[in-house]
Amino acid sequence: MTSNSEPAVETAGLVRSFGSTRAVDGLDLWVPRGTVFGVLGPNGAGKTTTIRVLSTLIRPDSGLARVLGKDVVADADACVPG
Ligand SMILES: Nc1ncnc2c1ncn2[C@@H]1O[C@H](COP(=O)(O)OP(=O)(O)O)[C@@H](O)[C@H]1O
Ligand SMILES: [Mg+2]
Repeated sequence: MTSNSEPAVETAGLVRSFGSTRAVDGLDLWVPRGTVFGVLGPNGAGKTTTIRVLSTLIRPDSGLARVLGKDVVADADACVPG
């Protein structure tokens, strides 16, 4: 069970690199439930990489990421329905 007071999405110090490219460099996010959150930025800013981490398609190198209170690494199976 997750508490309704928990955010929909939370990241802290999220980092993901590809070789020498730091695609996501210490991202802190707090997205309350029941809100619409837009992810805007120039090409290469790390938007797609962030969404891939949040949807458990790839693992972060470091930092924390939770979706509905579930850790995207430790609780990956619980993050994505189906
Ligand atoms: N699979 C990958 N292999 C190597 N570099 C990647 C890969 N995915 C993304 N990158 C690099 O990471 C950076 C962020 O990319 P990306 O997350 O796609 O940004 P955005 O979606 O904001 O345009 C870019 O420099 C991109 O070239
Ligand atoms: Mg993209």
